Amino acid sequence: MNASDLREILQYVPRFREKIFVVAVDGEIAASPNFSNILLDLAVLRSLSIRIVLVHGASHQIQIAAKKVGIEPSNTDGTGITDKATLEVSMDAAVRLTHEILEGLATVDLRAAYANAIVAHPAGILGGVDRRHTGRIERVDVKFLRTLLDEGIIPVIPPLGVDGEGHTYRVNSDHAAAEVAEALHATKVIYLSAETRLPGGGVLPRQLAIADAEEFCKRRVGSAGTNLYSKLEYGAKACRQGVSRIHLLDGHADEALLDEVFSNEGVGAMIYSNEYQQIRRIFKKDVRTMMALIRQSMESEELMRRRRTDILERMQDYWALVIDGKLTGCVALHVYPEEECGELACLYVHKDHANEGHGIRLMAFIENLAREKGLKRLFALSTQAYNYLQIKGGFHEVEPRMLPAARLRKYESGGRQSKVLMRELN
Ligand SMILES: CC(C)(COP(=O)(O)OP(=O)(O)OC[C@H]1O[C@@H](n2cnc3c(N)ncnc32)[C@H](O)[C@@H]1OP(=O)(O)O)[C@@H](O)C(=O)NCCC(=O)NCCS
Repeated sequence: MNASDLREILQYVPRFREKIFVVAVDGEIAASPNFSNILLDLAVLRSLSIRIVLVHGASHQIQIAAKKVGIEPSNTDGTGITDKATLEVSMDAAVRLTHEILEGLATVDLRAAYANAIVAHPAGILGGVDRRHTGRIERVDVKFLRTLLDEGIIPVIPPLGVDGEGHTYRVNSDHAAAEVAEALHATKVIYLSAETRLPGGGVLPRQLAIADAEEFCKRRVGSAGTNLYSKLEYGAKACRQGVSRIHLLDGHADEALLDEVFSNEGVGAMIYSNEYQQIRRIFKKDVRTMMALIRQSMESEELMRRRRTDILERMQDYWALVIDGKLTGCVALHVYPEEECGELACLYVHKDHANEGHGIRLMAFIENLAREKGLKRLFALSTQAYNYLQIKGGFHEVEPRMLPAARLRKYESGGRQSKVLMRELN
């Protein structure tokens, strides 16, 4: 990680401070070599005051344990029939795994505790078949979980539920994670999945509205991809109940967790419920909308006049702020390689979303981009937002002669008499 990665992460810190993330780990991932990296990533999240609840599956461990004792498990993922022998093996395997996770969390100095927080009843007889010791999640013990979280302790929840009579039931961990997130009003569920490809090898889109995720589930054929579809289904349901983001990540991929949480683009698939914001490149089909967006600001001389062709010619410089699929803002970075500097230009945020911090985000985005390109300075020209650039963007006013020669010529011939603002990128 370099300094600019850290700066990018810091943008998210105020937004996520004290928020709850439910991290759901498949048993196979908890047993994988990548799990030690995941533990470190969790330590990073905790260091940024993000509250974490860890829910784990145990299917992988149950299969191994059943083999050892020579039984054929009636079901391993907590969705089918759990007979008595399978329940016993499941309890041994799941609780053992919980303990191993607690040991792992201790190695990265994280305080954690086994949380018996799922209250379950028998799933009962469904379609004429008695599910025996498979549980239906009745409720989540929110008070207990909040007490642990308030003490800075990570609750670790196995895929088991208990009823008031002290009976244990096997529950599905994807479902448990979604229920826990709903009950705690968590900001995110992050599934670290053993399976991320659709049957047939396809991948999920990066962003899915709830309806898209539900549509994927509807189009499912046969039982292939159960592990993935279960996350889509419960994730979409949790989203409908108010959890704003559900992330489906490859649990075998190093740094997937941090890359997903702390970047605009993300690395996995994400189901979103409410406004989804992203900063992405401008495509040819966006240029007309973008022109309409900034027209008023060009007319009132806030922004320099640009023609459609000007934007098309330098399209790779332009970025769009998209909120809920709607182009809501824009910004550009024009690079002057010889002078090792760049111009932050065409910064605009639609009035409907003014004062929500988008302008600051767009400036920070360009700043990071400029750093990645190895630029030493950023400048901006402004007629009416120079205070904004100084107070919110860290720019200071300089003489026009500080501009790169080519830009100075354009400035002198343009006649806008904008103020010239500069900032060093160190
Ligand atoms: C300037 C602009 C990008 C700000 O975007 P935004 O997303 O609404 O602003 P943010 O949410 O990031 O910041 C809001 C803060 O900036 C202040 N602010 C907004 N516009 C300002 C301006 N022109 N001058 C001084 N301060 C300004 C707000 O009062 C608010 O202050 P607060 O946090 O102390 O309450 C937006 O108003 C815009 O598109 N203006 C028209 C185009 C323009 O002038 N672009 C700049 C070209 S260099």
